[in-house]
Amino acid sequence: MQKLVVEGGHPLQGTVPISGAKNAALPLLAATLLAPGEHKLENVPGLADVSMMLSLLGRLGCPSLWNGKLRLETSRIFFSEAPHDLVRKMRASVLVLGPLLARTGHALVSLPGGCAIGVRPIDQHLKGLEALGCRFELSDGYVHGRVDRLRGADIQLDVPTVGGTENILMAAVLAEGHTTLRNAAAEPEIEDLVRFLRSLGARIEGEGSSTLEIDGVTSLRPSAAGYRIMPDRIEAGTYLVAGAITGGKVTCIDTDPVHLDTTIDALRRAGCEVRVDGNAVTVERTGPLRPVDIVTRPHPGFPTDMQAQLTALLTLAQGTSTITETIFENRFMHVAELHRMGADIRVQSNTAVVQGVVGLKGAAVMATDLRASAGLVLAALAARGSSEILRLHHLDRGYEALVPKLQGIGAHICRVDSEARAPRAELHTGMSATA
Ligand code: EPZ
Repeated sequence: MQKLVVEGGHPLQGTVPISGAKNAALPLLAATLLAPGEHKLENVPGLADVSMMLSLLGRLGCPSLWNGKLRLETSRIFFSEAPHDLVRKMRASVLVLGPLLARTGHALVSLPGGCAIGVRPIDQHLKGLEALGCRFELSDGYVHGRVDRLRGADIQLDVPTVGGTENILMAAVLAEGHTTLRNAAAEPEIEDLVRFLRSLGARIEGEGSSTLEIDGVTSLRPSAAGYRIMPDRIEAGTYLVAGAITGGKVTCIDTDPVHLDTTIDALRRAGCEVRVDGNAVTVERTGPLRPVDIVTRPHPGFPTDMQAQLTALLTLAQGTSTITETIFENRFMHVAELHRMGADIRVQSNTAVVQGVVGLKGAAVMATDLRASAGLVLAALAARGSSEILRLHHLDRGYEALVPKLQGIGAHICRVDSEARAPRAELHTGMSATA
């Protein structure tokens, strides 16, 4: 087991390169099952979740080679099972359900079960796939799906689910006839999936809106040119908040600023200067933080995946902020850990009321889920003194090269074995105690 040791209170300065988006890479990898042959993907982020998806695809019979660029061979699918031991570790494994049904006519996928942030059912996934002609049996914690011929349908989702939209879309592209998917999710990652599917020969309109129109085709093929995955808007947002919370100046490059508009707006309302230059976004904070009210919403609203990061930031605002979480039922687990650092936050139903404090104090804190962990790292970077953050596997799922990227902008952070005690002087990126 390892932990992060952070010495806070140092304004971060510098430039951070942003990696490919986790939440685009995972559905795109599942989508390769739709088109037999060799796929080439670029800007695939080096994340634990991506490795887990590649090992799942490998177990289905699709080997991959990853050396900077990713090559994935999907000519043969020997198995159609996504086993529990993989799905329980990475819920997005459920995204192979639609592609396997479309490619092979059957799928055996473990129910993902709940996770720290909520129950996270897949009823909408199944509703949409059933409308396309699939039949499901639930037994022993598995979804067993079968379909003879996928037929286009007019589908109305009850919830604009990201994963549900992706699973249904990936089946509809090979269905016979036309499919209309209403109340679809409109996240940028879905737009990336649509662009990728189009590069395989799919016929889809409406991405970025809540209605997708799909004309099914008989077959798809790998795009010869390969495909470059979009930048990760949540990773970029996290580093922008790192600059804001430490009172520094941080530039994220290789971003798509259009995807950062709600985060940029929140940072500006909190008293930061934010400048956009092409695919670079710079945040700078010289004055005090101002309180802000945030409500998470499906895209184009404020993203739930940035909620913990903004909560950490607003613990230091001069006044009272409210953060309302409308997507997941239990996404305030970072609050108890932030209390340990001196934050003043009260959670009432699905709203956190944050009373800004003058400063946070370093403490040993426990990561609980991916974005909560990011919030704790941000708080530790701003806190006076040293913090330790345990259970790093959560962070490894969604942040590529987190420690080097933070060290690159001046953070005093290192990753050590859990039982080690990093001498305080060595926190300064290896400089000697006398430096
Ligand atoms: C995706 O999860 C993301 N994960 C999540 O990011 C993100 O928080 C979420 O979308 C919302 O934006 C990936 O893309 C791999 P949903 P997903 O289905 O698809 C309810 C991160 O930190 N719902 O849009 O699982 C559900 O309970 C992760 O990177 C149903 O009721 O999210 C939730 O309340 C965390 N029935 C809401 O919809 C269903 O069939 C949104 O879930 C499906 C979902």
